[in-house]
Amino acid sequence: MAENKMKLHWDNVYYNKNENEVSWYQKIPKTSLDHIKSLNLNLDSKIIDVGAGESRLVDNLLDLGFNNIDVLDISKKSIEKAKNRLGEKSEKINWIVSDINDFVSNNKYDLWHDRAAFHFLKDSSKINNYVELANSCLNSNGKIILGTFSSNGPLKCSGLEISRYNSSSINEIFKKHFILLNHRISIHPTPFDTFQEFMFAVFEKK
Ligand SMILES: C[S@@+](CC[C@H](N)C(=O)[O-])C[C@H]1O[C@@H](n2cnc3c(N)ncnc32)[C@H](O)[C@@H]1O
Repeated sequence: MAENKMKLHWDNVYYNKNENEVSWYQKIPKTSLDHIKSLNLNLDSKIIDVGAGESRLVDNLLDLGFNNIDVLDISKKSIEKAKNRLGEKSEKINWIVSDINDFVSNNKYDLWHDRAAFHFLKDSSKINNYVELANSCLNSNGKIILGTFSSNGPLKCSGLEISRYNSSSINEIFKKHFILLNHRISIHPTPFDTFQEFMFAVFEKK
């Protein structure tokens, strides 16, 4: 899908659906939080949530005391909705409306989190660019927490085709710059009483 169509697709989703009317909704993003807590990061660690949408991860990170958070999404509408939900607290966040494929950062992050955004990249050049971007944006020993649909997960998300991964296929893609520290399957109960199998991988920059 062309980039402007992709932006339109996601803005339409966030215009037309409430937070809990999308399959990926989580009241508490527990798997992501468990992984983040296990990394024992300093509270001033620089964190980016890539393709965050309306995720409540940012609320939870603020509650945990993290104070250096960037939230990025291709959809301006999703960012507006997340900002409104947070009210005054939203001023503590650096909000970025960008296609990850076009993202240019002057910052160096300690943690790059992505749940269910990377798996929309189908083109191998975009996948490679994503890995190069993550590498150039992370500090040495920086970590990635990546949640994608697993090889038993759905074939589509939000009506769009995705790529499914297992630990060896994801490692193959990231191994040039990253070491796979751990991976796990996580079953996500959707708001529609169905279940989706995710694979979460944690990488460390070489
Ligand atoms: C399935 S949703 C997941 C949202 C959030 N990470 C969560 O776990 O609730 C995918 C998100 O990725 C965003 N997205 C898709 N393609 C993107 C791209 N190329 N650049 C930035 N964001 C993108 C969408 O706007 C959407 O918010």
